Amino acid sequence: MSRSAHPAGPRHADVLPEGHYSAPPSDLNVLDPKVWAQTVGRDGDGVVTVGGIDVKSLAEEYGTPAYILDETDFRARARAWRSAFGGDADVFYAGKAFLSRAVVRWLHEEGLNLDVCSGGELATALSAGMPAERIAFHGNNKSSEEIHRAVSAGVGRIVLDSFQEIVRVAHIAQSLGRRQRVQIRITVGVEAHTHEFIATAHEDQKFGIPLAGGVAAEAVRRALKLDGIELIGIHSHIGSQIFDMSGFEVAAHRVVGLLKEVRDEHGVELPEIDLGGGLGIAYTSDDDPREPHEIAKALTEIVTRECEAAKLRTPRISVEPGRAIVGPTAFTLYEVGTIKPLDGLRTYVSVDGGMSDNIRTALYDAEYSVALVSRTSDAEPMLARVVGKHCESGDIVVKEGFLPSDLAPGDLIAVPATGAYCRSMASNYNHVLRPPVVAVADGESRVIVRRETEDDLLRLDVG
Ligand code: LLP
Repeated sequence: MSRSAHPAGPRHADVLPEGHYSAPPSDLNVLDPKVWAQTVGRDGDGVVTVGGIDVKSLAEEYGTPAYILDETDFRARARAWRSAFGGDADVFYAGKAFLSRAVVRWLHEEGLNLDVCSGGELATALSAGMPAERIAFHGNNKSSEEIHRAVSAGVGRIVLDSFQEIVRVAHIAQSLGRRQRVQIRITVGVEAHTHEFIATAHEDQKFGIPLAGGVAAEAVRRALKLDGIELIGIHSHIGSQIFDMSGFEVAAHRVVGLLKEVRDEHGVELPEIDLGGGLGIAYTSDDDPREPHEIAKALTEIVTRECEAAKLRTPRISVEPGRAIVGPTAFTLYEVGTIKPLDGLRTYVSVDGGMSDNIRTALYDAEYSVALVSRTSDAEPMLARVVGKHCESGDIVVKEGFLPSDLAPGDLIAVPATGAYCRSMASNYNHVLRPPVVAVADGESRVIVRRETEDDLLRLDVG
């Protein structure tokens, strides 16, 4: 088989260059705490446990595939973010990463706020009792109906994303006899080092209002004139799965620059800035994410320094981590169905889910880890590709991972760090049913989002 590049590009990775693979870990049974949820370990029989429950029992009770979410870890991460920023800042969990009513309650209890970006996310938040004033409403094309609902509910802020929206929100708020607190989302011309499809702060994209050319300054000018809205700050989100803080530094510098312009022109010091989310997590042992306290310290120092230089009062900072809170807290549990060794290449391991429960590998070329979790094994490592059951050759969950060569149908394997953007981006492709989310903590497990059924599918199909 040729090992030169395939004309269709790297997705046809049957022809990867020699030496591409990382070396297998010395012991396949070891679970790297960087990529696994906090309470994950192995019991005396070598079966992986989480929250004090072993995965074989979880598979028996809830079936596979299933997202298994470590509630203790989720709460610990939420608390770590909250306490890292202290009382002078607000942490808005980005609901798009994963949202359910249980999650909303945990966030509420741990003192976090919530960022929603659709009517559906807003409905979920409100139905689980998140106080409306702790909700921020985002989106580049909110419908008038969504704006109406958000304003009527009394959300703490709406993040304005276009000139039309400035007027639309002001008009709707005024018609409701309200003055809606708003921020303006700007693009600061920073392209974070991340996959192109998920980079969001360079200028050539749909989000935000460009800072360049005085466009954002004009947006502020218009917003300050309208009675229906109260402009409380500027928002910037520079991308996702970012490890390097320098992008945030440039963004903060530019946002503060705009605050200074606003003060000089209007005599108004806007009291808040939001630096968005985007902090990276470890999907494999090669990733080295920052801890929340390091991130909080870096961001607070940057903003304070920039404001001192501009002779501005330091605004209240907010951040919107999604992935960094929920991503590492869950793994997807699959059962192995078929195993196909392809001589000299790799072994294809098919599981009972696939791109319908994790689209990130196909969409972003994302990398994941994988481990055998229903037992340990001392067999030689084999280079494996974990694939799903969909009718599509791009249906890959883990492009490249090592599993023991005695892997057999019926074994359980798990893919860690699937808490963010997996269930929330899941689909029904091939009418495959979306898996449940099972929360575990202190020896107890419960379904927080149930498995989809064929009845669910047929209910939408009106014949
Ligand atoms: N705030 C805003 C305004 C955002 O647009 C986002 C993500 C976040 C916060 C949260 O970002 P996080 O901390 O979770 O990275 N589906 C892609 C990620 C899309 C992110 C969209 N916006 C993925 O699976 O990687």
